[in-house]
Amino acid sequence: MANDQEKIKIIKNGPYIVSGSIPLLEQVITTDEAGHTRELQDVHEYPPKERYTLCRCGASKNKPYCDGTHNKINFDGSETASRKPYIEKAEIFEGGDLRLTDAHEFCDHSRFCLRSGGIRELIKKSADPNARQTAIEEAMICPSGRLVLWDKKTGEPFEKEFEPSIVMVHDTQKGCEGPIWVRGGIPVESAEGSVYEVRNRQTLCRCGKSENKPYCDGSHWMSAEQKIKFRRKWGLDEK
Ligand code: FES
Repeated sequence: MANDQEKIKIIKNGPYIVSGSIPLLEQVITTDEAGHTRELQDVHEYPPKERYTLCRCGASKNKPYCDGTHNKINFDGSETASRKPYIEKAEIFEGGDLRLTDAHEFCDHSRFCLRSGGIRELIKKSADPNARQTAIEEAMICPSGRLVLWDKKTGEPFEKEFEPSIVMVHDTQKGCEGPIWVRGGIPVESAEGSVYEVRNRQTLCRCGKSENKPYCDGSHWMSAEQKIKFRRKWGLDEK
């Protein structure tokens, strides 16, 4: 978990200010032979800095850092995400000794949960060790933390322990920059000064187009029609 110095501060209609010497990496999403997204691989580590400013509007010419362009384009960075805790937002799916909690609105659409029939099908088959293991892998790599898989026997979630760190994700399959992956329980403070629920895995918008700011909602690659379809599927407009 993050220490007292490590935090991300959102500036109104501007960037994220990152403090506490948090490591900054670049990773690419890799795919398997079947075309499913599978892993994130390191491609670069940025020079360490105690404090740095990450672009949130998507228009900087010095990415991933902010260069002030947000002022020239009148970036509207209004934070629209609900403040309900994760567990209150999440739908629950049961399968054998596994429980899946799924808070759809956090989805960054990295698609790691679709392999081998998808995580909801896999947990139904969790008596099969391969299906169980694949479900655990898919939940643990879900960058946004939309998906959390729980062991019903212990009541504990399957979570990787991350050193607090920030990853600029590149979505190779979609040919675009992905979200900012925030790992290891780093607090994110809103422009108004309140702190969002601290979670182990979170994805923040960096293209400026999310409708669920500060979180990523897949707008970096999804069309308006695809987003409408997804929101309808999960009833997000009624919540
Ligand atoms: S937020 Fe400053 S240039 Fe994008």
